[in-house]
Amino acid sequence: MIPAAQPIVGDEEREAVDRVLRSGMLAQGPEVKAFEDEFAAVVNGRHCVAVNSGTSALHMAFIAAGIGAGDEVIVPSFSFAATANSVCLAGGVPVFVDIEENFFNIDPAAVESAITPRTKAVMPVHLYGHPAAMVELQAICSRRDLVLLEDAAQAHAASLNGIPVGAFGVAASFSFYPTKNMTSGEGGMVTTADDRVARKLRLLRNQGMERRYENEIIGFNTRMTDIHAAIGRVQLKKLAGWTKSRQENARFLNENIRGVIVPPVATGAEHVYHQYTIRVVGQDRDAFAAELTKRGIGNGVYYPTPIHRLPSFGLSLDLPTTEAVAAQCLSLPVHPALSQGDLETIVSTVNDVASAGA
Ligand SMILES: Cc1ncc(COP(=O)(O)O)c(C=O)c1O
Repeated sequence: MIPAAQPIVGDEEREAVDRVLRSGMLAQGPEVKAFEDEFAAVVNGRHCVAVNSGTSALHMAFIAAGIGAGDEVIVPSFSFAATANSVCLAGGVPVFVDIEENFFNIDPAAVESAITPRTKAVMPVHLYGHPAAMVELQAICSRRDLVLLEDAAQAHAASLNGIPVGAFGVAASFSFYPTKNMTSGEGGMVTTADDRVARKLRLLRNQGMERRYENEIIGFNTRMTDIHAAIGRVQLKKLAGWTKSRQENARFLNENIRGVIVPPVATGAEHVYHQYTIRVVGQDRDAFAAELTKRGIGNGVYYPTPIHRLPSFGLSLDLPTTEAVAAQCLSLPVHPALSQGDLETIVSTVNDVASAGA
């Protein structure tokens, strides 16, 4: 079986963890600080605040950016539930809008039409590692006086017109979950250029304290441990090489796969292929996926149910592109552990299944 995703962890990560364990300093400490300083290079030198998950990063980013009770936040419905859950956890109301069909990201025209007097923020997701339409979204947010945030959980080192994701919004959130392009085990990072937002994030993750027992605000314990940061630091050094190999794998798949729609890349965009997602048209996607699995090609559907229709939200909305893509999308293996032989097997199997069903 060629796995759909495969975290790559080696001796360097093991040694880094061992170093922390031997130091006796396990909770947030010097490794977290170093991880933050080093991650800043990925986001044009912005402040970086490491936390215990991508979900905590989103949740705290909303609070630090001033989103609170009843504030509407425009988000895509075609994403992982954490995108919208975190709006609710901060007391806000997610307003789900449609995506555009090429890059599966939030449609700026749909954002514009969803703005109400209660709208406070817009949060695109750089889905699958492809940057959202940040130029248009920045223009809308500055014209309508809205806070622009970024869910960059899947898009470490992606960029648009030379600007890295995580350096567009007031704040952006990354995830280091094991299947992401780099991992710390579990973990997240919030990035911001705003000194006050950065300070608030640091307070929020540590019970509202900068100085011990002088709690300034009500906060959480969302700290990252030095054990996780040590893994993240090693992985960060490998990110550029892994990204290149994801891009080369994607190029091979693009050039050789037939009978399905392969993922396009927008002008000026650097896609980091957290997922390589095809659209199966003219045949049943679930049958296509089952056949790939039967023939040893790991795959995944991200996401079969748009967030607004999940039992946790239970909304009935008219989002036609979201619904169409949710029924057609299928992610194939693209991770750096694939060999040339694996890539050829993926291509021949996909082409076979596509032509058999056509
Ligand atoms: C788009 C998106 N947002 C948020 C998250 C939440 O990150 P985490 O699992 O680290 O909490 C994830 C990943 O799981 C994600 O894919």
